[in-house]
Amino acid sequence: MNREARLDALFIPGRLGPAARGGLPAIELRHASGARAELALQGAHVTAWQGADGADRLFLSRCSRFQAGVPIRGGVPVVFPQFGAGPLPQHGLARTRAWRPVRSAVEADGAVVAVLALESDEALLALWPHPFRLELAVALADTLSLSLAVENTGTKPFAFQAALHTYFRVSDIAGARVIGLAGSAFQDFLGKLPGLERREALAFDAETDRLFTGVPDVVRIEDPGARRVLRIEKRGMPDVVVWNPWIDKARCLEDLGDNEYRTMVCVETGAIRPPIGLAPGSRWLGRTVFRALQEGAPG
Ligand code: BG6
Repeated sequence: MNREARLDALFIPGRLGPAARGGLPAIELRHASGARAELALQGAHVTAWQGADGADRLFLSRCSRFQAGVPIRGGVPVVFPQFGAGPLPQHGLARTRAWRPVRSAVEADGAVVAVLALESDEALLALWPHPFRLELAVALADTLSLSLAVENTGTKPFAFQAALHTYFRVSDIAGARVIGLAGSAFQDFLGKLPGLERREALAFDAETDRLFTGVPDVVRIEDPGARRVLRIEKRGMPDVVVWNPWIDKARCLEDLGDNEYRTMVCVETGAIRPPIGLAPGSRWLGRTVFRALQEGAPG
């Protein structure tokens, strides 16, 4: 394990090697089961995850630019320290920065792990005057597990929002349902009044952009067209955002194909409202584990 590793110092024959997404350096993780994932250094962004059956679990737009400083459309963008719009760039500062390779390992149970970090530098401090260190640990096994740590390395407290803005691939959004949000309070970003979610299953027939707070730790996406259920298990991340741009918004997004809204749904896990306060020297940890199940399997 090497704290200041270069990218190639992370490589483990047969398990961890180089990949590239357009012009962006990336790491490929391979698990003994045949599952694979890709992790771009920019944004510590997981751009692909395939199960042992080779099927893509994550959505990645064919129109995404893989260009330094430009957000990637799809996969798992890391949102920090601001969710959505605000004084900082949309979704914060982490998703467009080059993160640093820190370490890699094959765990005793066979999980393949890569860890990247982002520390505040002069340019980041000019935008957001709070010294911090982020670490994202990606573990590939029969699940994909993402652990995000935020450390306050300064001398004053700060408050932040953080999220894993995951784009899941679905066979057809018209049949997809998100389960596990009933009873949670929501705020709607499209102008509907806030309320309490009553639906056991959220289905999609229009643009959806909603923040659910205080959500129980297991949420599922049912995709009857693919006969698949995607189980999302989170820890330390009380909030969930569900987003699909639908027809008109998809047309406005130049890095999303006009029809691609049909094959994606974002179910984002994070700590958004209220923001997390972090004292100097303290560390916050949020974790999300994704597991693909066949329909009918317990989960
Ligand atoms: C979601 C927001 O998390 O991200 C939406 O709730 C936003 O409002 C979407 O449109 C995509 O954001 P971006 O910056 O990646 O286009």
